[in-house]
Amino acid sequence: MNFRDLSPSPRTLMTPGPVEVDPRVLRAMSTPILGQFDPEFTDLMNETMTMLREIFMTKNQWAYTVDGTSRSGLEAVLVSLIESGDKVLVPLYGRFGHLLVEIVRRCGAEVVTLEKDWGTVFAVEEIAAAIRQHRPQLVAIVHGETSTGCMQPLDGIGLACREIDALLVVDVVATIGGVEVATDKWLMDAVIGGTQKCLSVPAGLSLVSYNERVESKLLKRKRIEQGLLSDSSAVSSSFHDLLGSPIRSNYLDLCQLQDYWGPARLNHHTEATSMLYALREGLRLVLQEGLQDRFERHKRHEAALMNGIAAMGLTLYGDPSCKMPVVTCVNIPDGVNGESVRAVLLSEFGIEIASSFGPLKGRIWRIGTMGYSCSKRNVLLTLGALEAVLTLHGVKVDAGAAVQAAMNTYNKEALWS
Ligand SMILES: Cc1ncc(COP(=O)(O)O)c(C=O)c1O
Repeated sequence: MNFRDLSPSPRTLMTPGPVEVDPRVLRAMSTPILGQFDPEFTDLMNETMTMLREIFMTKNQWAYTVDGTSRSGLEAVLVSLIESGDKVLVPLYGRFGHLLVEIVRRCGAEVVTLEKDWGTVFAVEEIAAAIRQHRPQLVAIVHGETSTGCMQPLDGIGLACREIDALLVVDVVATIGGVEVATDKWLMDAVIGGTQKCLSVPAGLSLVSYNERVESKLLKRKRIEQGLLSDSSAVSSSFHDLLGSPIRSNYLDLCQLQDYWGPARLNHHTEATSMLYALREGLRLVLQEGLQDRFERHKRHEAALMNGIAAMGLTLYGDPSCKMPVVTCVNIPDGVNGESVRAVLLSEFGIEIASSFGPLKGRIWRIGTMGYSCSKRNVLLTLGALEAVLTLHGVKVDAGAAVQAAMNTYNKEALWS
């Protein structure tokens, strides 16, 4: 059987991930493979760790990758920290909070959830009060909920965790590289980032960083595993009840991963070398742009997109005071088949925007302005195409207004700067 040459169609990716990738990153992926213990390759790993610390805004020793998509990092952190019977608090305000709940349950924890209507977020004080009330061992929360386009303020949650000696684990999968993620300043004990969103690197790696509070918990579990905390090498079940249990994963065991990434360089998995090249190049480009400039770029294109959407006569979903700058959720006008609009955008214009999950299915579109996809060209094309496709679907839009409004936003900025 003959298969065609691989030749994907050109696309404008305006979803909350995966997004377009800078050609320099794609080029990096096609460079020759090095052995994973070749000193040239381990130098690249060390450089990647240094750059990860910068984007996570941390002085943590540990900042490295877990091979697998973003949830591999979430699962690695949670399975490495949670012991059966631990109490874990998960404040929920969208679909990815439910992913945390699912993983935490599988770790055998007693899960306490705190729920907010989708489209809003918690006041930090509400979460702090729940922490004081429930006294969990660990709090897990999402920073940017791509399912609702809302972003949870985090500053203050870490302090409440420290008061009761709980660990704070934060999913920054969708925000890292697009908005500020101040790991140290906000007292976050472990953070997990994704590659395929604001960093504009293909999916396939997860980024983790954690501090000494986390490390000491990991090392304790490792000593239990090795029987080093016991009088005898045979570790009894009552001993586990008293002191805790070993980590119940090999692939996702952060102790083993840090021994692989750290000076010991102990063999663990076979590194995904081409993905590491891609990440290193992606991070290099982020730092070359500058974190603050990058955050501002995301805000600029968000403003142009939002003004264009409003000029078209459409409305945005969610509480604007907690809107995530890199995802814009648009209410689908009554009577319009949202999936048909998306299909025509893709087939006629090569533009992809996202649908939504659960209670929002069929009610909103989600438009991402992330990383390399976050550009004036992409915003103007998306607005123009959306106007045309909505007109085709019988929606009365003020034709041309959206693109003009976005252009005015950009021009105003040019005059101001
Ligand atoms: C906020 C958030 N967390 C976690 C994930 C899961 O990431 P992945 O699909 O890379 O495993 C996503 C993916 O969209 C996400 O948006």
